[in-house]
Amino acid sequence: MNQEKHTVRTIQEMKDRSEIITMLTAYDYPIAKQINDAGIDMILVGDSAAMVVHGHPNTLTATMDMMVLHCAAVARACTRTMVIADMPFGSFQYSVEETMRNAARFVTEAKVDGVKFEATPNHIEKTRAIVQMGIAVMGHVGLHPQAVGALGGLKVQGKSIETARKVVSEALALQEAGAFAIIFEAVPAKLSAYVTKKLRVPTISIGGGPGCSGQLLVTYDVLGMFDTFTPTFAKKFTNLNKLIKDTFLQYRQEVLDRKFPGEEHSYGMSDEVMEVIEKEFGKSK
Ligand code: KIV
Repeated sequence: MNQEKHTVRTIQEMKDRSEIITMLTAYDYPIAKQINDAGIDMILVGDSAAMVVHGHPNTLTATMDMMVLHCAAVARACTRTMVIADMPFGSFQYSVEETMRNAARFVTEAKVDGVKFEATPNHIEKTRAIVQMGIAVMGHVGLHPQAVGALGGLKVQGKSIETARKVVSEALALQEAGAFAIIFEAVPAKLSAYVTKKLRVPTISIGGGPGCSGQLLVTYDVLGMFDTFTPTFAKKFTNLNKLIKDTFLQYRQEVLDRKFPGEEHSYGMSDEVMEVIEKEFGKSK
């Protein structure tokens, strides 16, 4: 496995060599370290943290402070994997200047390798401005979870002529503005494959089908952390939910049964010290 830290250059080279790019989300140090050590190419510190880590019903409650903290923990673990910070709702919707300041916070405070935001045509100017600051920007087309209110739910995007046109034109505009890669979320496979062939920069699918340059999933979906809803495009590669539940039940039972802690998990001391203590403080009952 190549130990070199990924950059926009190496990610572009992977696309040019038709090598598939792998990407997962992470929000903390231990999982990020596992992802890094497994040879996954990129991590997105997604604002999905608001849902999967903080238990909110959508991503709108993620804040800059919350995201910077998660990003810093992830970045500390990544010697090889490229780390991309997801700009939360409200951090890039206002002025170009505020967007630039927020993007800079991710680089200076959290030490990530780039930022991603759910950019609509209104945000192309902001993409260009951040790239001109020297910060790598990843675009995101198709389903924008931060627009859940306006969309009336998390729905596939690009099935109608109007929404398909929006996906294609936004991807082209993002590339033109300097985005180094573009996420395709919940987009019909045929449309993602079509745009992937039109673009120079890599496309990363999360529900965008197999024709993209790379694949992304939310790590807790991959791990089977939740036994409730998982999106159509997610695959549980293991069932951590059951493993964790069984482990906690076993821990509780062993404590109740006084099987844990045993001698091997306790510290010893000399009888001599105990004798002195009992002499000074009296025997316990
Ligand atoms: O926050 C996130 O995890 C994301 C992906 C779903 C693309 O934005």
